[in-house]
Order: sequence, then structure tokens, then C-alpha cells
Amino acid sequence: MHKIAIFAVIFLLTACNTGSEDKSYESLDGGKLAKAKCSSCHNLDFPARTTDDEKAPPFYTVTHHIKQAIEAGTDEERRMKFIDFVSDYPLHPSVEKSYCDKQSLKFYGLMPSQKGKVTKTELKAIASYMYDTYDQKKLLEIMQERSRLAKLPLYEQVLEKYKCKICHSYGGGKVGPLFKQIAKKYKNDANATAKIIDAIKNGSKGKWHLYAPMKAYKDIPKKKLKAIAKWILEQK
Ligand code: HEC
Ligand code: HEC
Repeated sequence: MHKIAIFAVIFLLTACNTGSEDKSYESLDGGKLAKAKCSSCHNLDFPARTTDDEKAPPFYTVTHHIKQAIEAGTDEERRMKFIDFVSDYPLHPSVEKSYCDKQSLKFYGLMPSQKGKVTKTELKAIASYMYDTYDQKKLLEIMQERSRLAKLPLYEQVLEKYKCKICHSYGGGKVGPLFKQIAKKYKNDANATAKIIDAIKNGSKGKWHLYAPMKAYKDIPKKKLKAIAKWILEQK
């Protein structure tokens, strides 16, 4: 009888331990898996995007409040606890286990079990990715960088964000025409601004022969395109 009890204890201990010691998930791409298996309900952006009709809290929010709930312990212990919880919850969700506050739970409803759709090992990879990606310190840095950028003149924001100068100012014109050369070329062209905006928005090729084509920068807003075009034409 005594022996059986000890056996059971040892068995339980090893059964619990395999969770933390099985590192096979580390070779999986947690970010890709999250996109494939979780993004239909959870927003994965960092910083998070929230919408009125979202089906689930964004992964940033989920990660942040689970991290807060398991504050005690060393870094490694907290990481393991986080991975243990996040790799278990999607398979066996319950109101008791959820760290979601009651109001949010009511709003979203309980997460449906993902059993059969994702494996435990995949969940560990996703959990590990979440732990590293959705980080408060990183968020602070991103927000600080954003507010620094927002204070710059519009043309400077474009130059910084898209690193235009790497090709157009540095390196003595080896990778792309210098901004002052572009300004010179368009000096007497009444449509210079429109042509420059078009080149940035839709890409440019074959105009300078020496160089490879430039890709299109489709996501720069109109106001910033105007500002950067004006700035380019002023370069001497
Ligand atoms: C069908 C929609 C849906 C899918 C798919 C889904 N979730 Fe959820 N998830 C929810 C909802 C709703 C909640 C909030 C309610 C709750 O906590 O159960 C939630 C909450 C969670 C929580 C937080 C529990 C807590 O304590 O706050 C974790 C962790 C989580 N999901 C992980 C995942 C992972 C990992 C995946 C991908 C494998 C995934 N979810 C896929 C709907 C979904
Ligand atoms: C990877 C290098 C690279 C980067 C980064 C780059 N460009 Fe270019 N750009 C080029 C090259 C090369 C050309 C010349 C293409 C050609 O021959 O038509 C070009 C062409 C242009 C032209 C058109 C010149 C003309 O004669 O009409 C403009 C304007 C321009 N770039 C602006 C920008 C701006 C603004 C940015 C940042 C948002 C930028 N470029 C980022 C390489 C780059």
C-alpha cells in the first residue's frame, strides 16, 4: 500500500514536470501559429487594435493581465507559469480558470475549447511567443518612438520612418540618385511635385538608368507625400 502511494507521487511529479521540460515547442514558429490558429478571434497587433465588435480580447491585453496575475517568482519561473497556463486554457477553458474579469467574460462569452484544432506543443510555442512579444517595456519604447516621430515636421517623419536617406543621401549616390540631383532634374518642371509624389507612391524605374527600380511606398498619406515632395525640391 505504502509502495503504491510513493509510486503515485513519483508518477504525478514526473507527469507535471514533462510540461516544463519538454522543449520541442522551441523549434516551432509561435507567431505563425498564433496567426493561423488564434487570430480569427484575438487581435495580434502590437500595440493592440481594439474594436467594438471584437470576438475576444487582443493578445496584448490577454498577455498583460496574465503576466500581472503571476507576478511572484524569478523570470524563468514566471515564464514557465505563463506557458503552462496559456498552453492549457485554450484546451480546457472555464469561468473558474479565466483571469478575465466578470464583465469582460460576460461581454465576450467563454472561449470555446480549441481541442482538436491546436496541439499542446503548438500552444506552448504560441505562449512562448506571446510572453516575449507582448512586453510592457517594448510597448513603452514603441510609444516613445511614436511620440518622438509625431513631433517632427512631416517630411522628417517620412525620412525617418522609411529610411529614404540610406539610398538618397548617404553613400554618394551609389544606390540611388541624391535628393539634390532629383531637385536639379525637376528644377524647371511645372509638374515636378506631382511627378515626385507619383514616383514615391507608385515606385520608380528606368528614370536614372544607373540604378535598380525603387519600390512603391503605398501607405504614405497624401499630406506627408506633399511635404516630402516639397522638401526634396528644396535640396541643393
Ligand atoms: C472562437 C474564438 C477564439 C479562438 C479561435 C481563440 N480564442 Fe482565446 N479567447 C476567446 C475569448 C472569447 C476569450 C475571453 C473569455 C475567456 O477568457 O474565456 C479568450 C481568452 C483567451 C485567453 C485568456 C484567458 C484569461 O484568463 O484571461 C487565452 C490565454 C487565450 N484565449 C488563448 C488563445 C489561444 C492561444 C488561441 C489560439 C490557439 C485562442 N485563444 C483562440 C476566444 C477565442
Ligand atoms: C533602397 C533604396 C531606396 C530607398 C530606401 C528609397 N529610394 Fe527613392 N529611389 C531609389 C532609386 C534607385 C531610384 C531611381 C529609380 C529609377 O531609376 O527610376 C529612386 C527614385 C526616387 C524618386 C524619383 C526620382 C525621379 O527622377 O523621378 C523619388 C522622388 C524618390 N526616389 C524618393 C524617395 C523617398 C521619399 C523615399 C523614402 C520614402 C525613397 N525614395 C526611398 C532608391 C531608394
